Amino acid sequence: MDGVAVLKALAALPIAEFVRTSPWAYPILETFHMFGLGLVFGGMFVFDLRLFGVHRELSLVSLAHHILPWVWLGFLINLTSGILLFLSDAVTFGQNLAFQIKSTLLAITGLSVFWFQRQVFPHLAEWDRQTNPPKSAKRLALFSIMLWMAIITAGRMIAYSP
Ligand code: HEM
Repeated sequence: MDGVAVLKALAALPIAEFVRTSPWAYPILETFHMFGLGLVFGGMFVFDLRLFGVHRELSLVSLAHHILPWVWLGFLINLTSGILLFLSDAVTFGQNLAFQIKSTLLAITGLSVFWFQRQVFPHLAEWDRQTNPPKSAKRLALFSIMLWMAIITAGRMIAYSP
């Protein structure tokens, strides 16, 4: 079964058919996709700024406990709404360059979250207040902000990409 055949099989799923033919499912899913985007990018931007060393009076540990659960909720909303949006026109989106770039960036995000959990999260208490985080943490913060901006740009470019 080649790639296009797999995409056709996905687009033929009953749930894909439902999203494709329902007058309200697609716009509602796109709306949730924006809610999720706001939670993920808004939360990560504020947290990464602090990880970069901005507003050092703020507790990094409290910020993580307060903000990261909302980021995870936003990611789950976008994973669910995104997969349903994708399935509704899998053949087109699967061959869409911007969507392929976005999916690759999302995979890289998964790796960076894994690295964050192992290399940064255990040390947050050491950098909690008035402490300048090490260069490695600052690099990750900058990389994370740029990665999410690239994902959002690629997402927006899906509608314009050949
Ligand atoms: C947190 C992660 C994600 C972010 C920040 C994100 C962001 C975006 C943005 C900004 C758009 C453009 C919306 C527009 O043009 O109005 C978009 C569209 C889209 N996203 Fe995502 N997305 C995420 C995850 C996903 C996932 C995991 C999938 C699927 C597996 C996905 C599938 C899509 C599809 C199919 C569209 C095109 C919708 C359309 O043009 O009608 N997204 N996304």
